[in-house]
Amino acid sequence: MARSTSGESVLTRTMRILRTFNTTPTTLSVSEIARRADLPIATAHRLVGELVDLGALERESDKRVRIGYQLWETASRSSPARDLSRTALPYMEDLQAVVREHTQIGVLEGTDVLYLERLSDRGAGRNVAEIAGRLPIHATSSGLVLLAHSSPEFQEEVLQQPLRRYTAHTVTDPGQLRRRLAAVRADGYVIAPQMITLGAVGLAAPVRDRDNRVVAALSVVVPADGRGSPHMHAPALVAASRGVSRAMGARVPGGNTIRTRGAKPSH
Ligand code: PHB
Repeated sequence: MARSTSGESVLTRTMRILRTFNTTPTTLSVSEIARRADLPIATAHRLVGELVDLGALERESDKRVRIGYQLWETASRSSPARDLSRTALPYMEDLQAVVREHTQIGVLEGTDVLYLERLSDRGAGRNVAEIAGRLPIHATSSGLVLLAHSSPEFQEEVLQQPLRRYTAHTVTDPGQLRRRLAAVRADGYVIAPQMITLGAVGLAAPVRDRDNRVVAALSVVVPADGRGSPHMHAPALVAASRGVSRAMGARVPGGNTIRTRGAKPSH
């Protein structure tokens, strides 16, 4: 395969170009693509031109470029994400009908939560999670669920990194996080109050596959100052996550009993 002077293959450079569309804005000029992908402008021009000819990218009338329908079609047709979304959506809809704020499902990608689906009520409160968007593992309810069920090695790798404090409520101390992860495993769900953004509380529970491995986190986001305690949504959330898990072939023990930590839990 043709390699640049830096020794990188065309495929690697092409992937770097495609990944520049993973963040907003999703429509970019070639010079923005070159800068984000750290490529010489001539290389970016040539590769973007080829990707446009192949239909992977599309050019707008102002010459800016975005992901084309062909690439979207290929990525959406038969991915694990689509299977998970399809299985989860009926349960998410039922959950959303009760919570009437935001319901979402996410998987672990690197040290981020990647959100696959999100349902939101008109007039719902603030939510920084977007479909195909990422949020950090240590600062979201879904992330804490996914981390709690990851290997001890991966947990330590994450906990040893410098962890960003997004709000005054973000837990960044490794010892405190370890205790929080143990509580997630014991309780079967987690509440993350205003950890990623002020004004919003996340609640998440694990989704398991046929091998009983945790493959996703189902979560709801409610306003921090909403009526009632966020805890009141836990039974519906846990029931829905168990429903998705069963539909995925997991052997989930009967009943939807959940363990709560006193009337006014401290987490
Ligand atoms: C969370 O899962 O903790 C979470 C996610 C998105 C938000 C707020 C909270 O906007």
